[in-house]
Amino acid sequence: MMTVSTSRFLFGAASLALTTALAGGVARAQTGAPATLTVQVNKSGAAVPKNMYGLFFEDINFAADGGLYPELVKNKSFETDDHLIGWKAIRGAAGLESYVVSSDQPISNANNHFLRLSAKTAGPDAGFVNEGFRGMGVKEGAEYTFSMYARRGPGSVNGLAVTLEEPGRGNGPETPGSGRTLAQAQITGLTGEWKKYSVVLKPTATAAHGRLKIVLDGAGTADIDVVSLFPKDTYMKRENGLRPDLVQLLKDMKPGFLRFPGGCIVEGITLDNRYQWKETIGDVAARKPMINRWNKEFKHRYTPDYYQSFGLGFFEYFQLSEDIGAEPLPILNVGMACQFNSAELAPISSAAKGPNAAGAGDEPTLDTFIQDALDLVEFANGPASSPWGARRVAMGHPAPFNLKMIGIGNEQWGQQYLERYEPFARALKAKYPNMQIVSSAGPSPSGELFDKATLKLRGLKAEYIDEHYYAKPDWFRQNVGRYDNYPRTGSKIFAGEYAAQSVAIASPDNKNTWDCAISEAAFMTGLERNADVVAMASYAPMLAHVDAWQWTPNLIWFDNLSSYGTVDYYVQQLFSQNKGTIMLPVQLPGNAKNGSDNLFASAVADDAAGDIVVKLVNYSPAPRAVKINLAGAKGVAKTGRAQTMASADLDTQNSLQEPRKLTPQDSTFPVAGSAVSYTLAPNSFTVLRVKARR
Ligand code: AHR
Repeated sequence: MMTVSTSRFLFGAASLALTTALAGGVARAQTGAPATLTVQVNKSGAAVPKNMYGLFFEDINFAADGGLYPELVKNKSFETDDHLIGWKAIRGAAGLESYVVSSDQPISNANNHFLRLSAKTAGPDAGFVNEGFRGMGVKEGAEYTFSMYARRGPGSVNGLAVTLEEPGRGNGPETPGSGRTLAQAQITGLTGEWKKYSVVLKPTATAAHGRLKIVLDGAGTADIDVVSLFPKDTYMKRENGLRPDLVQLLKDMKPGFLRFPGGCIVEGITLDNRYQWKETIGDVAARKPMINRWNKEFKHRYTPDYYQSFGLGFFEYFQLSEDIGAEPLPILNVGMACQFNSAELAPISSAAKGPNAAGAGDEPTLDTFIQDALDLVEFANGPASSPWGARRVAMGHPAPFNLKMIGIGNEQWGQQYLERYEPFARALKAKYPNMQIVSSAGPSPSGELFDKATLKLRGLKAEYIDEHYYAKPDWFRQNVGRYDNYPRTGSKIFAGEYAAQSVAIASPDNKNTWDCAISEAAFMTGLERNADVVAMASYAPMLAHVDAWQWTPNLIWFDNLSSYGTVDYYVQQLFSQNKGTIMLPVQLPGNAKNGSDNLFASAVADDAAGDIVVKLVNYSPAPRAVKINLAGAKGVAKTGRAQTMASADLDTQNSLQEPRKLTPQDSTFPVAGSAVSYTLAPNSFTVLRVKARR
């Protein structure tokens, strides 16, 4: 009988067994006559899907708070379960008479905790510091809007002193005045009523690990809440906008779609912990934080302070998709908590409760989840006259977001998924017949559960089936032909999560090596050759903070000030930027189907540019001469353009210190008639473009 492990590590071990079985030997050095390939320019294949290469976003590795979402204050509203996460009283509250997290006449019912500070005498220690997300990254001369709600209580507090400072070496965050002051401001005029105060801070120096100090000015009591320090420099200068360097990296991918918000975060550890889009829209100050499901998942990367503030919520995800030119692809909970965790289930109807059904009678049934999906379509696309459309308009986006695709469930498996998927998809299609549905084939790219799900979903005419593969680099090279024999009609494949793992699935020792990236490139020639079957593909996960990650490898890494694309990022980018419009068949040496002696290739016509584009991977420590015949090409230019990533050392990685150590390099090459003679560098991925007509 097939069993599914409830541990991510066992799941990893199973995949690795498969990988080892498939692993090939070290590539041989190539000598002698050039390998001849023929691109059948006169025999065009199917159209390459417009949105083929996209992005997978999940709030893992501090990807949202502390990453893409640039709020610098952690736990700004004191609403986390432990209300003081991120906050520390200066010198253990030596300067304070008392402090308390209170809910006595809060700002609102949605935001009902705040911090009450009392001091007997005025002094520099009467306050708290916020540590940010592994510190606060601030830049000299840039502007940061500090804001907070405050009111005064008994006593004679004049106001609050706000200092952005860089802690001194060896001093804990509770030591005031020991660091370098970066910016200061005075908040004055407190009254007995809650009021919002704002001031712009302009640091006098750049610091990667700043912190924010708030101290009572005078003796007595004051209450503070919704404390924010937000950079003015956001992408497109939006208020509540996103970190510009990260958005730029995403946009530079030319992504066809943006999958959000995950990933397992969609499912939650329990159903209560699931992602609920309705809780993430509207007034940012009123969005309630929730524990991030990745906070304690990995003992080796324990992160108990990891919450989701939802400052980056569904409105912002839709807006980001629009900003970077990607189709939005929300993935929604299908009434199932993560099957690697509690595997809690929402009953399909209130009358049908299974053994794993969540809690007592008042727990949501599947209907609630379906209604959330229907409401989401209205939120994204509905007119101002509809209740949810009106919410979008009120948030400042009168035009529809033009949502066309929805994922039902993340990485679910088994009968419990299929029996929830079916009524969910039926209801969605009944109301929105044109909505394209993404379904899940589970966490493993093969096996009994995978086969059963695929068969059933094809029978249900699911538009896209989401397949995931995290495996060793060899697996990617050995599986280049994975889609060659897939059915050419019916459901399309969404390669929704993949990444080569240099050591093992979710191992903390995995690195974004060139070995991983070049193997992904080889595999992707197989995706491209089968672009009539594989409609979408996205590497996962997307973002990781170098000081706060849980999972590796990732597409993009960052710290509090800077970021870089991994070698995998540039491979993805080369595919995305050179996806062309029409598939062209390629004959490999010896008529090999999926790679010949570690030479892999695919080709497309880019009709918009009038180019033939050939992608070649030489997974070999020796240079390799190739001759490429462009069969049937007309009006071929005499010079072509090449973009190459090559490194003899398969362990090569980019890093914060060397962000562009291995990136695509441009060059030109001669074309003789309709043939290209080219020498591929050792361990290289090359994209050749030649102007020609079909
Ligand atoms: O990408 C990290 C995780 O891997 C995703 O959350 C999940 O869908 C998969 O198991």
